Amino acid sequence: MKRLVVVGTQWGDEGKGKITDYLAQSADVVVRYQGGNNAGHTVVFDGNKYSLHLLPSGILNPKIENIMANGMVINPKAFSEEIAKVKRFNLHISNRAHIVLPYHIELDKAYEALKEDVKIGTTHKGIGPAYADKSSRIGIRVSSFIQEHKFHDELKHLMEIKNKELKSLGSESLDFDVVFNEYKEYAKLIAPYVKDTSYLLNNYIKEDKKVLFEGAQGVMLCLDHGTYPYVTSSSPTAASVPVNTGIAPWLLEGALGVTKAYSTRVGEGFMPTEIKSELANQIRIKGNEFGTTTGRPRRIGWLDTVVLRHSKRVSGLSYLAVTLLDVLSGIDELKIAISYDLDGQTIDYVPSDSDDFNRCKPNYIKLKGWSEDITQVKSFEELPKNAQIYLNTLSELVDVDIAIFSVGPDRKQTIRVKDIF
Ligand code: GDP
Ligand code: IMO
Ligand code: MG
Repeated sequence: MKRLVVVGTQWGDEGKGKITDYLAQSADVVVRYQGGNNAGHTVVFDGNKYSLHLLPSGILNPKIENIMANGMVINPKAFSEEIAKVKRFNLHISNRAHIVLPYHIELDKAYEALKEDVKIGTTHKGIGPAYADKSSRIGIRVSSFIQEHKFHDELKHLMEIKNKELKSLGSESLDFDVVFNEYKEYAKLIAPYVKDTSYLLNNYIKEDKKVLFEGAQGVMLCLDHGTYPYVTSSSPTAASVPVNTGIAPWLLEGALGVTKAYSTRVGEGFMPTEIKSELANQIRIKGNEFGTTTGRPRRIGWLDTVVLRHSKRVSGLSYLAVTLLDVLSGIDELKIAISYDLDGQTIDYVPSDSDDFNRCKPNYIKLKGWSEDITQVKSFEELPKNAQIYLNTLSELVDVDIAIFSVGPDRKQTIRVKDIF
């Protein structure tokens, strides 16, 4: 495949950064198509660990063209901090992407505080309010942001409205001059990278370049197909790539669904297979399951194939990349959810209503675990028999072939089973 989407199939943090970086070794272009710095993508190679939030995971390779597409919301301050850590890179930022401003962050915090026990547990990065402004047509696009007069006038007008809203929510209002003077400097930093990335990307495609589209979050956090309202404000699905990048849908050749060998979730919202025993803590420590962006401990659950089939249906998954398999070594018995019980009925779908979803009780199959350390394994055949059975069962239950599996955070701890890109 020449144009492949890397999609998170669960609740984010599946290892999309690692898999994108791995595949990027044979890519020409890497495109981030949605989300903002709510994402945290970890890339590890040559003894170094990088946490990327806004920048595409191809940024560490100077031969790759990186695009931040129109579907993203970009916090210019976070961008300036992140870009300072990378040395040689090629980057293009869409003139149609939207800007996250300090009032978005304050509003995100204020809404969450007021929601009390029904809060979403957002990352407090202002993502929801920024996308809401885009939809309400009161957002500031990159193209306006980099024209100082235009930015000044748009911001002035908007901050009058936003300060009224902040005050009514009991938050402090923000000072226009302070925000403008700080952000106009970030605009100067961003300006050299800004262009029509749809135009650029379509040209790359005409030139037959290999393109990876890097999703943020995961399908279960999709605004449309996730566990609403406990979701993010964009669509991580492969289906969202064309609109979020400005290419024709039929130019995509497939989607690689990145799947943890178990489940995790950070923030609020139900996870049917959540493990409440001490085992969750064991897995959390072994898998280093703490948020890349917020440092919050991630909740841990058994693998849920109802979720994976849902992701396959609503997003399209041509292949799976199964990550963090090494973390399951040493657990005697492994469970995989195959369906849910909802009010006495067996169901094979994710209910749309959050109360119905909350009442779902998973039906499990149980598989024997393995005790061996698998972090140095280099092929499927080298895996202990029970680990092979675990992967084969996962693949059969989702009815998608596994193309890659991963046994550690390092780029080298990645095993390609099928040559897909
Ligand atoms: P992303 O948001 O999908 O890019 O995932 P994150 O980077 O937020 O979280 C995945 C975490 O798992 C990171 O700390 C990775 O370094 C780590 N990781 C990725 N693949 C593996 C693996 O196969 N084994 C282990 N032990 N860690 C992994
Ligand atoms: P990556 O790309 C895991 C979660 C938040 C919260 C919900 C809404 O690293 O996989 P938001 O700040 O987006 O309004 O929060 O979504 N969330 C993520 N969870 N990984 C992410 O990104 C996430 N981005 C947002 O915890 O529950
Ligand atoms: Mg992450």
